[in-house]
Amino acid sequence: MFLSKGWQMRSTEYGIDDLFLKRFSPKQFVKKPLGEKDLCAVLEAAMTAPSCFNEQPWRFVLGEKEDFLEILSTKNAEWATSASMLMLLCSTQTFAYNRKPNRWHAFDSGTAMAFLIFEAYKRGIAVHPMGGFSTERAKEHFGLMGLEPHAVLALGYTEESHTMTPRLGLDEIVIDRRET
Ligand SMILES: Cc1cc2nc3c(=O)[nH]c(=O)nc-3n(C[C@H](O)[C@H](O)[C@H](O)COP(=O)(O)O)c2cc1C
Repeated sequence: MFLSKGWQMRSTEYGIDDLFLKRFSPKQFVKKPLGEKDLCAVLEAAMTAPSCFNEQPWRFVLGEKEDFLEILSTKNAEWATSASMLMLLCSTQTFAYNRKPNRWHAFDSGTAMAFLIFEAYKRGIAVHPMGGFSTERAKEHFGLMGLEPHAVLALGYTEESHTMTPRLGLDEIVIDRRET
């Protein structure tokens, strides 16, 4: 898929899909525009994510690359400039049906991001999420009344040589209280 040089695959003990083994967050993208159809497809995949009360609190803000580079931390802006596209993931914070706070809005938006990432991967597009940006500047730049910004997403094509980031083991992330 989008991994070529120096690619190191994660291992799987239980035969999970390549999608989980080969995906990574690159910092080098090749100069190639993201087609409108691919853009719509990854957003459509995000749209299908589950959410509390089916509220679908996620909102994806599209804009000019320069505007995103201005809200990113200096370090992120340095590499993110090579991405084909940048977008901002935000969410609504109250339930539409009763106007009460939705404490799962960020959780649901993270799920939508994962759906987007996986559809992107299937299309050969890499995604790198970034929390390193100014939420205040994001609100100002994009006029985000009532939306909470979560992450800027860099999308593009990569040939980056990458060492996969390590993961905790199943024994570290699973708390098993079963009796048998
Ligand atoms: C919410 C969130 C915020 C992140 N913020 C940044 C960031 O500001 N800069 C950066 O370089 N990577 C950022 N990352 C990428 C993570 O560092 C990366 O996903 C993690 O190290 C695992 O590596 P992998 O995605 O290649 O498997 C962020 C990821 C997430 C999900």
